[in-house]
Amino acid sequence: MNYKFFRPLLFALPPEEAHRAALSALRLGAVFASAPPRLPVSAMGLQFPNPLGLAAGFDKNADSADALAALGFGFVEVGAITPRPQAGNPRPRIFRLPEARALINRMGFNNCGMDAAARRLARRKKDIILGVNLGKNAATPHENAAEDYNKTMQTLYPYADFFTVNISSPNTENLRDLQQPPQLKKLLDSVSVRRDSLAQQHGRRAPLAVKLSPELDAETLAAAADIIAARNIDGVVACNTTTSRPPSVSALPAAAEKGGLSGKPLAPLALGMLRALRKRLPKQTALVSVGGVMDGEDAQARIEAGADLVQIYTGLIYGGPCLPRQIVQTLRRAA
Ligand code: FNR
Repeated sequence: MNYKFFRPLLFALPPEEAHRAALSALRLGAVFASAPPRLPVSAMGLQFPNPLGLAAGFDKNADSADALAALGFGFVEVGAITPRPQAGNPRPRIFRLPEARALINRMGFNNCGMDAAARRLARRKKDIILGVNLGKNAATPHENAAEDYNKTMQTLYPYADFFTVNISSPNTENLRDLQQPPQLKKLLDSVSVRRDSLAQQHGRRAPLAVKLSPELDAETLAAAADIIAARNIDGVVACNTTTSRPPSVSALPAAAEKGGLSGKPLAPLALGMLRALRKRLPKQTALVSVGGVMDGEDAQARIEAGADLVQIYTGLIYGGPCLPRQIVQTLRRAA
């Protein structure tokens, strides 16, 4: 497929319409898919066919994971899923910044809810590595946040290979406060206890990762890493979108939109966070680097900086459906 031809057609549509059209086309095309390119890696106790994953937020309703995996990904993270279905923020809520190869979004965890997600995931045909990104309903009081993560984990436990506790979306009010040490301890105690009891019940331990924000200052990041390590959390996903507006985007009109920035301008923040976390965390804690990976060289730089796995989202919007296989090819050549 020549994405140079299709991209202007997709970009002529509003971002959410383009996204829906692309997902429908991919679901149709997936019938002809071949196996993911191989560059096996073991992380969080799981065996991945290759280290490149699709980041959360692309398949928010968990209805296209197999089709997306067919692009060559070694794993797909669906969600964020919340206990109850949720409409998210009013549209428009995604903005393209093509000059900067970036996006700004303020989706607000629009998703079908955990019960619909469970029905969809139960129908899947392929055995790909599937992560579920856990979110909190906007209406759930802050002090009951842990119960939202636990409920969705419990309902989706049979279908997920791993879970990501997402406490870093900028688009749910106060969510990122859960990264502060006292709240993080309480949350991770609760979620890891629930995971352990589910592991007993199902005879399989699904690893847990925590997704952090690039806005954490060095001290809070170090504290978060220590709390994560002390609770034997299996991985850290770094990072979510940024509310900052680096100089490369600040002059663009869309930069004034409220929401999280992703894509190329996020790369220096994501790389800095990866390096800091790799220094602070024990070797067995897997690091999933995400943010501004736009090509194979970017992905290789993350592996060299200590990432076990790499994810992309915005890169796929600008680079197109051949990008995942190209990235894995580059990683294979470097391996
Ligand atoms: C996201 N991202 C995201 N992350 C998450 O943990 N849960 C979510 O529901 C979403 N939703 C979402 C929607 C949209 C429209 C975008 C663009 C992003 C963040 C995403 O997974 C990733 O962390 C960032 O986008 C940075 O990576 P890229 O896009 O620079 O490769």
